[in-house]
Amino acid sequence: MRISVTGCGYLGAVHAAAMAQLGHDVIGIDVDVHKIDRLAAGEPPFFEPGLPELLTESIASGRLRFTTDPAAAAAATAHFIAVGTPQASDGNAADLRYVDAAVDALLPAIGPGHVVVGKSTVPVGTAARLAERIQSTGARLVWNPEFLREGYAVRDTVEPDRLVYGMEAADEASVAVLDEVYAHAIGLGTPRMITDFATAELVKVAANAFLATKISFINAMAEIAEVVGADVTQLADAIGHDPRIGRRFLNAGVGFGGGCLPKDIRAFTARAEELGRGEAVAFLKEVDNINLRRRRRVVDLAMAELGGSAVGRKVAVLGVTFKPHSDDVRDSPALDVAVALKGLGAEVVATDPKGIANARARHPQLEYAEAVEEALRGADLVILVTEWPEYTAIDPVAARGLVAGATIIDGRNALDRDDWVAAGWRYRGMGRS
Ligand code: UGA
Repeated sequence: MRISVTGCGYLGAVHAAAMAQLGHDVIGIDVDVHKIDRLAAGEPPFFEPGLPELLTESIASGRLRFTTDPAAAAAATAHFIAVGTPQASDGNAADLRYVDAAVDALLPAIGPGHVVVGKSTVPVGTAARLAERIQSTGARLVWNPEFLREGYAVRDTVEPDRLVYGMEAADEASVAVLDEVYAHAIGLGTPRMITDFATAELVKVAANAFLATKISFINAMAEIAEVVGADVTQLADAIGHDPRIGRRFLNAGVGFGGGCLPKDIRAFTARAEELGRGEAVAFLKEVDNINLRRRRRVVDLAMAELGGSAVGRKVAVLGVTFKPHSDDVRDSPALDVAVALKGLGAEVVATDPKGIANARARHPQLEYAEAVEEALRGADLVILVTEWPEYTAIDPVAARGLVAGATIIDGRNALDRDDWVAAGWRYRGMGRS
């Protein structure tokens, strides 16, 4: 299948490279010349495990190319839209300008027999509007939400949990095109569902709303546990044994961040309000509030451990990305904590295996250390906010020899408390006595 992918960020670049590796002929398109130049040279402009190898192999095979010229899409039959839908600067709604621009740019390149495939996360109702826009070209639109996780994006793209094709009306020709694109996943027995546009759009936001709610649920339990001296990790283990609940996504800590869950629950709330059904998802505001309270909780804990004043105290912050195995610092709880403590007068030294460049671009006022030892040296307080394996593997005995004050706040409940306490540390978890 000849494929174009418009938008070569965390979603589109991985999709383009993975589709090429599966045997398709792919052209990746983006307006950002710098990004395209790097991708064409086989260098991902962001960190994603497995992507460098995938890019190199696919480019070498001749099946993957990159360009800034939207006219290049004319050679393709399936046209994926993978641009971002960030939170609008003036409110909670999604900013659809990149989706609209991507579709407009495709218009001269598409015609009968072509299928435009929407992957971006959009407010329900967007696909119907875009379908009208492309109608005169004779091309069809399918809404095909993406469920990949950063850090596991290659695997999630090649072997997705499910495939959803949202369509305006029964359209066997478009289904056949997508079945060919996804022949590998379908061959593995991946469930494939055909729905209408609105259902497909809602599947995506509902999935992210559910995941966000699950995390905030356990963080709400952490708030209660903190008052009564209970242990939220044991509580999560115990309720997680019930298969109806499940243990995954029940890790209490500093909460969720990233370019998806926070903005998606806000955009969903804004859309539901526009539709006159704001009350149906009003709980998502509470999910957001609980989540943001966890960042404050870490800062409050830090202030308490510093005796009420952070001025002139060195705080080592382990992690700046929103989760491990990514360099993404968008809406990162870790970075928020670091910035808040800096604002309170602390000498914050943050470290991260992959996220320092992105963090520095956003917050040049923070001090960054490449090596974890450098961040720890002389610190009055250590805060783990992103559970990189490098940090969960730190030897507490060796670390004790570097710091000035042996207190650690485990913002992800990721460390072995007993080991740290045995090494002479004062350990503070989240929702743990
Ligand atoms: C999320 C969804 O998991 C994907 O299915 C979806 O495709 C993607 O958004 C998207 O909409 O594009 P992602 O943002 O990569 O993926 O990250 P997650 O793995 O979902 O983690 C989100 C945040 O929740 C992270 O900050 C993580 O640390 C936090 N988290 C996760 C917790 O605080 N506790 C948990 O138990 C699990």
